[in-house]
Amino acid sequence: MPNTVLVGAQWGDEGKGKIIDVLTAQADLVIRFQGGSNAGHTVIVGGRKHVLHLIPSGILHDGKICLIGNGVVIDPLELLDEMRLLESQGYVVRGRLFVSDRGHAVMSYHRALDAAQEQARAEGRKIGTTGRGIGPGYADKINRAGLRLGDFLAPDFAARVRAHVEAANRELAALHAPALDADAIADRYVTAAAALKPLIVDTVAMVHAADRAGKSLLLEGAQGTMLDIDFGTYPFVTSSNPTAGGACIGSGLSPRRVDRVVGVIKAYTTRVGAGPFPTECMGEDGDLLRARGGEFGATTGRPRRCGWFDAVVGRYAREVNGVDFWAMTKLDVLDTLPGIKICVAYEHAGRRLDTLPADVAVLDACRPVYEEMPGWCCETSHLTRFEDLPTNARAYVARLVELCGGRLGILSVGPGRENTLRLAL
Ligand code: GDP
Ligand code: IMO
Ligand code: MG
Repeated sequence: MPNTVLVGAQWGDEGKGKIIDVLTAQADLVIRFQGGSNAGHTVIVGGRKHVLHLIPSGILHDGKICLIGNGVVIDPLELLDEMRLLESQGYVVRGRLFVSDRGHAVMSYHRALDAAQEQARAEGRKIGTTGRGIGPGYADKINRAGLRLGDFLAPDFAARVRAHVEAANRELAALHAPALDADAIADRYVTAAAALKPLIVDTVAMVHAADRAGKSLLLEGAQGTMLDIDFGTYPFVTSSNPTAGGACIGSGLSPRRVDRVVGVIKAYTTRVGAGPFPTECMGEDGDLLRARGGEFGATTGRPRRCGWFDAVVGRYAREVNGVDFWAMTKLDVLDTLPGIKICVAYEHAGRRLDTLPADVAVLDACRPVYEEMPGWCCETSHLTRFEDLPTNARAYVARLVELCGGRLGILSVGPGRENTLRLAL
């Protein structure tokens, strides 16, 4: 398989975990390149559901190497929990999973800061973060004040953790949040460091060596294009670059060694957390999508906001990421609808907008311009060939691809590996 970057095209939860799992069969290495345990990637194997937060979704395939790249912010305690859970289910993890020594740690004080900062935000400014310490973790990285996994092996590690907790306590005090116990925290991370030591390596060198040896690399994005710190609905975004450019920054793979980009996109739209969402359905249609799609957060359990497909977002995602192939998911969720709306453009202050405005106040004031297509009103989950889909379902998918550009590579009609129609991937 050519080196492949896979990204989410909407506001996350597009079904990236499932598609990574499907594509891992053809890959040698699977690499996470940004985000942290804010991600929740669901993979269903043999009827058993796994939700991966930090470990690449490729781990469920025997023998594949999985890397947590330098661009990921890593919560060591979460990572150890996730490893233990997989091991208890019979998966071999050690010897297959490696973590970048350049990756920054998300520590318990980052979580405390995340909660305190969110609490301090005024109504209407709250982001609805996952509470996993992601923003404060990346802030320390950019501020050149972070602890990297490589530092976990240093002799003065405990003293450094204590100093970081003291600094965090000053910030917490300013936010009227309780202070943390520096000694207890240092002890916990010293124990974690010993457990993680064999996994902490130079993943950048590993990526280069694998690429030189002609191995197939699959780069697993978390979150989605509209949550990108640069290209998303700022400030209602995450603190990293989930877009394709982030894949090189977060792994060390040269941009010239990326062969293709796969965009994962739902056949409708969801968002969890605050921020503009032009095609959101507040009434019955939204409830139906949520119920049929099981749209509850894989990380936080929060109900996801649901709405119609937004082709302005799809086109934008194709441009920003250079999407070659779409993996379109959850078509089956629409099986019972008599009519389905597609947003083809926005209307703002009496004018038509075909591109995504940068200003969230403008996006908030945009009204979707819809076209409506007839539904197909029959089940699709059992189908295995695109040609066997009902005519209206094929027409719907074709229209979405026509509006967004690019080609359809995979169509997913259910959560399992078997509910996957392969077209060009
Ligand atoms: P991710 O964060 O992009 O990996 O997506 P999540 O795992 O958070 O959410 C996607 C949800 O949809 C999970 O519960 C998947 O099991 C499920 N899913 C994925 N593809 C399909 C599909 O084609 N049809 C249905 N019905 N469910 C799907
Ligand atoms: P996956 O990889 C959906 C959202 C949060 C919040 C915003 C910022 O499963 O698609 P953060 O904790 O990152 O500071 O929160 O981003 N968010 C996600 N939404 N899927 C995700 O990941 C998300 N990760 C973060 O809800 O609105
Ligand atoms: Mg998710």
